[in-house]
Amino acid sequence: MSIDIVVLAAGKGSRMKSKLPKVLQPLANKPLLQHVIDTSKTLADSQLHIVIGHEAELVQKIITEPVNWCFQLEQLGTGHAVQQALPTLADEGKTLILYGDVPLVKSETLIELLSLCTAQSLALLTVELKSPTGYGRIVREAGVVKAIVEQKDANAEQLNITEVNTGILAVDNAWLKTVLAQISNKNAQGEYYLTDIIALSESQGKIISALCIDDEVEVQGVNDKRQLAALERSLQKRIANDLLDRGVTLLDPSRLDVRGTLFVEQDVSIDVNCVFEGTVSLGEGVQIDANCSIGTQGACVVIEANTHIKANTIIEEGSIGENSVIGPFARIRPGTQLSRNTKVGNFVETKKAIVGEGSKINHLSYVGDAVLGTNVNVGAGTITCNYDGANKYQTEICDDAFIGSNTSLVAPVKVGVKATIAAGSTVTKTIADEELAIARAKQKNLTGWVRPKKK
Ligand code: UD1
Ligand code: CA
Repeated sequence: MSIDIVVLAAGKGSRMKSKLPKVLQPLANKPLLQHVIDTSKTLADSQLHIVIGHEAELVQKIITEPVNWCFQLEQLGTGHAVQQALPTLADEGKTLILYGDVPLVKSETLIELLSLCTAQSLALLTVELKSPTGYGRIVREAGVVKAIVEQKDANAEQLNITEVNTGILAVDNAWLKTVLAQISNKNAQGEYYLTDIIALSESQGKIISALCIDDEVEVQGVNDKRQLAALERSLQKRIANDLLDRGVTLLDPSRLDVRGTLFVEQDVSIDVNCVFEGTVSLGEGVQIDANCSIGTQGACVVIEANTHIKANTIIEEGSIGENSVIGPFARIRPGTQLSRNTKVGNFVETKKAIVGEGSKINHLSYVGDAVLGTNVNVGAGTITCNYDGANKYQTEICDDAFIGSNTSLVAPVKVGVKATIAAGSTVTKTIADEELAIARAKQKNLTGWVRPKKK
């Protein structure tokens, strides 16, 4: 039997105090709603329906998944939101209700919840919270779930209840259609609460099966920036623990940020304050120093402090532990490919640079739109002048070339195999193999010259 998944994402989220709708606010660099979608996709044979309203066009632009979009033009409450999806739900089967602002629920939990849902019983996900303020409270009588009471409608005794509604539930489709028609908006917020279907179901003979979980991070909702920041920390802690379990050395697990997917081989070590973005693979023995920002693919080498590596940078597999060193303070931009035993040192910026095995760019250089052969030595302060103000051109430096310090290579230009460039040259013409190029003003020494004196 197929499963309909309805994700509620129409609200504005006023408490975020942001122009960006709440469900698009980023958690680990990914919209809250995208987290929910990615988890939903792990459930087999399911149809995804997303209810949107506030900034619907923007949500549809950012979320590119093929889903069934349902529109809630006025946000009259969570029950009203689900009503907008009803016409597109299958007549038979189960519906799972998820919230666009509850991003970290695990698919195992959802599978277990779905297993508790039958034609006679509605399955509700609940959690025990030390501070339940803001959440709908689970009212039980003799252990049996009777109702959910919202914070604003709860009496003093109910406010003391610590088992809360997570908002997530699974319900038989036919029953959902029947019971949703019965809810009203006579409550403190004047909204149609989805949660009211619990009491209505109970009073009409349905069983409420509550699945109470202990990992509150899974069901934490985000209503304001404080909660978003707190959840970011919780997620990062989860990721760090997972890396530790996989054998990674983290000098301080609380000072690591992974905003994407990090693949690791054995004996990877990461110092403090590193940020990983996108899909990053770290090969065996990779060691990353403090304050690195890394968004790359492929296996990495030693990356020294304060190095920034942008996404789509390829660092060749096999270079790990083989003396390839990047940084400190290097800036590796897209299109960079570094072979084994390369060095890209401090204050070096590379962009669309293919650097052959054993080549070194040790200090203070810009190498862009360039192809370097093997064992090239690029002196300090070398600049590839790749841009004439309108177009970009290529610099080619062949194997074993030696580029003297403070050289400007005015592209397009080619430096031959074993060619040498004298320091301070401005190179505009091709240099053949093994030639020495000197392209600088000749030095003149004047004797008897007198330094100006202060008047
Ligand atoms: C809801 C639950 C509460 C639960 C909490 C868990 C109800 C009435 N209350 O409260 O019991 O403890 O979630 O996080 O269900 N939305 C719409 N259309 C609307 C209103 C909301 O799509 O008309 C969406 C929002 O975009 C959001 C989600 O539903 O993603 C939850 O809405 P929110 O207003 O945050 O509900 P809570 O007050 O947190
Ligand atoms: Ca909420």
